[in-house]
Amino acid sequence: MLVLGIETSCDETGAAVVDGEGFVRSDVVHSQVALHATYGGVVPELASRDHLRNVRPVVALALERAGVTLNEVDAVAVTCQPGLVGALLVGVQTAKGLAWAAGKPLVGVDHLMGHVLSVFVRRGDAGSHAAPPEFPFVCLLASGGHTALYRVDGPRREAISELGATRDDAAGEAFDKAGKLLGLGYPGGPQIDRLAATGDAHAGGAALSMPMAQKSSLEFSFSGLKTQLAQHVAREGVPSGRALADLCAAFQAVVVGSLAGKLDVAARREGVRHVVLGGGVAANRGLRARVAELAAEHGYTAHVPPLASCTDNAAMIAYAGSVRVALGDHDGLDLCATSRTLLPRTTRKGRGTR
Ligand code: KG4
Ligand code: ZN
Repeated sequence: MLVLGIETSCDETGAAVVDGEGFVRSDVVHSQVALHATYGGVVPELASRDHLRNVRPVVALALERAGVTLNEVDAVAVTCQPGLVGALLVGVQTAKGLAWAAGKPLVGVDHLMGHVLSVFVRRGDAGSHAAPPEFPFVCLLASGGHTALYRVDGPRREAISELGATRDDAAGEAFDKAGKLLGLGYPGGPQIDRLAATGDAHAGGAALSMPMAQKSSLEFSFSGLKTQLAQHVAREGVPSGRALADLCAAFQAVVVGSLAGKLDVAARREGVRHVVLGGGVAANRGLRARVAELAAEHGYTAHVPPLASCTDNAAMIAYAGSVRVALGDHDGLDLCATSRTLLPRTTRKGRGTR
C-alpha cells in the first residue's frame, strides 16, 4: 500500500509518500520559518497564503522523489485537525481535488495522531532504525502548538487517551516567547538549547519556579514561567555572554524538569514499559538526556524518533492515514477542517486552581 500524505496545519507545507509498513518513499517539507521570523510567531493569514503558493509544487516533488504518479498511490491522507483553519483548508481542499481527480480514497488525519504514531515511521533502510515501541506506551508530545501526555494502547483513535495537557502555553511556545524576550530570534527553542549547553542553570540567580509542581498532576503550565522570565529581564536587563547562557540553562532546566518529570510519573503510574517523545521540542538535548536518565533509573525504554519525524512532516500523516486505510476506513469529499483535535481531552485550558 502507498499513501500520499499532505500536511499544512501550521507553518510547514509537507507532502510525503509512505508505504503500509511505514517506510518513507519521499518526505518533502517547505518551512515558513523565515516568513514568520520578523513577527516572532506564526501569522495565520501569511501561513495560509504561503501554503497556497507551495502545496502543489511540494506534492509534485514528493510524488517525483517517490518515483510514483498519483494514479499509483492507494489513498490521499491529509491533516484536517487541529491547527490554523485557514492553513488546514489549503491542504484539505488540495487533497480533495487530488483524491477526486484520481478516484482514490480520501483520509482525514488528526495532526496529534500523526505525532503520536510518528515513532512508527521508518526512514532509511529496514535495518537502520531501532525497534518500535510495544503497546501500551506513554507519549509526550511537546511542540510549538501542543503539549500533552497520552496513553497509547494501539494505533486507533479510540485507543489513545490524554492523561494531561498544558493549561496555557505549549512548551515550544514557551521556548519561543523566552527566545523573543532574550533577543534570540524565532524560533527560540534551538537557540536556547544551544546556549543552555554551555551555561550553568544554578549560576544566574534567576528565581524561576517549577510550574504545576504537585507530583500527582499530569498537567503542565508554562505561561507563569514566561512571566517570571519577563520580570527578571525587566529588573536586570537582557544579559549577554556567560550570563545569557546561564539564564537559558536555568529556563531550560525548568521546562525540561516539568516535561520529563511528568512523563516519568505518567509512565510509572500507567505501568508501561515504553515511552515515546514527539513534537519539535523532542529535539531538545536537555530533554532527551533527562528522559534517558529517568528511563534507565526506572526500567522503561525511551524512544526518540529522528528529528525529521518529530517536527511537523507529512510522512507521519501518511502513516497515520495508512493505519485507517488498512482498517477499511476513509472519509468522503465532505471532509471539513477544524481547529480542535478529535482525541478526547481531559485538560481544559486555564481551568481550576494550580
Ligand atoms: O513540531 P514543531 O516543528 O511544530 C509545531 O507543531 O509547533 O515544533 C516547533 C517547536 C518550536 O516552538 C521550536 O522552538 C521548538 O519546537 N523546538 C525546540 C528545539 N527545536 C525546536 N525547543 C527546544 N529545543 C530545541 N532544540
Ligand atoms: Zn505538530
